[in-house]
Amino acid sequence: MKLGRTFPTVRRALERSGRLADARYVERATMSAERTGSLGEVDPSSVPYFSVAVLPSRIDTPGTPDAPDASASGRPGEVVVVGLGPAGPLWLTPEARGELAAAEDLVGYTTYLDRVPVRPGQRRHPSDNKVEAERAEFALDLARRGRRVAVVSSGDPGVFAMATAVLEAASEEPYRDVPVRVLPGMTAAHAAAARAGAPLGHDYAVVSLSDRLKPWEVIAERLRAAAAADLVLALYNPGSRSRVWQVGKARELLLEHRAPDTPVVLGRDIGGPEESVRIIRLADLDPADVDMRTILLIGSSQTRTARRGDGTEIVWTPRRYPEG
Ligand SMILES: C[S@@+](CC[C@H](N)C(=O)[O-])C[C@H]1O[C@@H](n2cnc3c(N)ncnc32)[C@H](O)[C@@H]1O
Repeated sequence: MKLGRTFPTVRRALERSGRLADARYVERATMSAERTGSLGEVDPSSVPYFSVAVLPSRIDTPGTPDAPDASASGRPGEVVVVGLGPAGPLWLTPEARGELAAAEDLVGYTTYLDRVPVRPGQRRHPSDNKVEAERAEFALDLARRGRRVAVVSSGDPGVFAMATAVLEAASEEPYRDVPVRVLPGMTAAHAAAARAGAPLGHDYAVVSLSDRLKPWEVIAERLRAAAAADLVLALYNPGSRSRVWQVGKARELLLEHRAPDTPVVLGRDIGGPEESVRIIRLADLDPADVDMRTILLIGSSQTRTARRGDGTEIVWTPRRYPEG
């Protein structure tokens, strides 16, 4: 423990005893700057006080997440699609954390890869967010060559994210035999809902407002249907610098079925450094308040708000629905 200046001495001792290759290094564990890896590969001048050396016993434990090189061990390659949660290390599941640590290659949109701590010996393959299919094939190609690959997504990887792209590519030759697993993650709607109270406590529908991959008419039809069925709505991708009118249109459609006072949760950068959660009226929903880091939760006719004793406003949707 407390390696710091003593690191070179510890390293020499491990070398002399023939155990340097087995020794692991852990720095700032669980913090955002966490770094782990093989101790032999660590630059001694970079070692801080908050670091430990871990020397496992000689008991052979094949298949543990720390196996240094899965392809060298003769195991077949694999793609694991991992969700990082909406933001921050607290919403990364232990299962996902383990897979990220065990991967030999990390593949993902640059912004999401930047959220994964750097590990010596691991290869990182960042790419632009518009090249999902190419990224999926790239990951499958690596796995076909025996590499253990983690494809990184934000939130839950199955919700408007990389799991679909990977499975779509994996259903075609030459990738049909490449093993693929999808790990669940926390999705933005659930994180935003918890911050505001429990607006998703009754039936709800999830719709992406992006018309990049589906026509706006389809989106409008779904909004009308969900609004007419009195479902709470979680709206992902409500807008960006180039998509500015969709929120205004959605508000108009929803107001055909919902009261102007319907509560709306406007969650931005939930879990991140710029987090903001506002509860507003549907009639006051302003497209200027929405960007790529925003999620909207639109209440049903039953969704309620209340002010707590400490002045905070909460929103929830009762589990009971009135008859008739
Ligand atoms: C391409 S989708 C990816 C969703 C992600 N797979 C999930 O399960 O949360 C991106 C959209 O998710 C929402 N989103 C993701 N992270 C968010 C966060 N931390 N705060 C608010 N909204 C977020 C926004 O609506 C954003 O435009």
